[in-house]
Amino acid sequence: MSFTQNILITGGAGFIGTHLVKRMVKLYPQYRIVNLDLLTYAGNLSNLTDVENAPNYVFCKGDIRDHVLLEGLFATYAFDGVIHLAAESHVDRSISNPMAFVETNILGTLNLLNVAKAHWDKPTHQRFYHISTDEVYGSLGETGFFTEETAYDPRSPYSASKAGSDMLVRAYHHTFGLPTVVSNCSNNYGPYQFPEKLIPLIINNICNNKTLPVYGDGLYTRDWLWVEDHAAAIDLIYHQGKIGETYNIGGNNERRNIELVHYLCDVMDELLGRSQGTSRQLITFVKDRPGHDRRYAIDASKLKNELNWEPQVNPEDGLKMTAQWYLDNSEWLEAVTSGAYQQYYESHYL
Ligand code: NAD
Ligand code: DAU
Repeated sequence: MSFTQNILITGGAGFIGTHLVKRMVKLYPQYRIVNLDLLTYAGNLSNLTDVENAPNYVFCKGDIRDHVLLEGLFATYAFDGVIHLAAESHVDRSISNPMAFVETNILGTLNLLNVAKAHWDKPTHQRFYHISTDEVYGSLGETGFFTEETAYDPRSPYSASKAGSDMLVRAYHHTFGLPTVVSNCSNNYGPYQFPEKLIPLIINNICNNKTLPVYGDGLYTRDWLWVEDHAAAIDLIYHQGKIGETYNIGGNNERRNIELVHYLCDVMDELLGRSQGTSRQLITFVKDRPGHDRRYAIDASKLKNELNWEPQVNPEDGLKMTAQWYLDNSEWLEAVTSGAYQQYYESHYL
């Protein structure tokens, strides 16, 4: 079978990668999608069972830091595009183990850039698309938004490592003419998110009648985006984004953490048939995250004006669908929270 494009997606067994791989495999049978993922604690092949036998899908277990492996993949598939998501993604883990973040997010990205550069000597139609975060911009006060022109001010080892990788991607465009695109997105939520992140952690703890840890005063603000809206934005930017450009992606959906947790408690009480207020009693204010950024908010008007993208799922519906998904997929939740997760949870929260 011949394909019109071969696309390498890294980190395709993670949370966002799962949604992106499924979308690309199903929407574009004319493309061959090669998913390279190391299957760390955050990667889960069972997320992808509905595409695993698709004729246009290939999975490769491997490390973006492995130069020989990448060389082999580029030689075999002559990639037309790379969509790079593989990363260490959890801020709390970056505080306890910054080195893993530098190794994967910075050195791994550099390795990928070097191999792409070597294979795309005189790029014609190729593109290297790097998926990044709004956290590179630092923290906002009560007002204002991050735009693509906001100066970088990363403040956690995670955001510093993502900022470093963004800078390398930009540098490879300016210095070597590598055809790159970058997008910086706000907090995603939805099915398949690992329950170390706030929303699935709260849902999982409510299911298990465990306390709901809210850091500090709970007045930290995040802008939440339905993960499939992010996957749609990535698809659009991959196809239509301008080389050398950066695009912000956001949900226009700011919530204080405590308000979000209250809402999830109420949704879960309803879904579990408990009386309203039951889950709220589990809320516990705990020691704050060191260096905790106060507020993120994205101005996504460039993406709207230039590529006509807007989020499609309203937050109330999205949060209810998310809660329902975790209830319907309790086996998934049990599988990913067995073993090493317990150790992580106990050392972090207890
Ligand atoms: P995730 O932690 O759920 O998934 C990361 C995936 O990368 C996992 O499947 C893991 O196995 C894989 N991986 C890790 N190290 C690897 C390596 N060395 N080689 C190959 N694969 C490796 O992350 P996510 O939440 O899906 O985020 C994906 C990307 O999007 C990341 O780059 C992250 O910085 C970015 N991002 C995430 C969010 C969010 O809210 N989750 C928002 C903006 C940007
Ligand atoms: O903004 C985009 C970023 O969003 C992504 O780049 C990251 O990969 C992703 O993990 C996410 O980072 P956050 O740190 O914002 O997400 P997290 O779910 O860890 O935390 C959301 C907010 O909730 C944050 O203010 C910290 C707080 N929190 C988190 C946890 C895990 C709590 O109050 N209690 C918790 O137990």
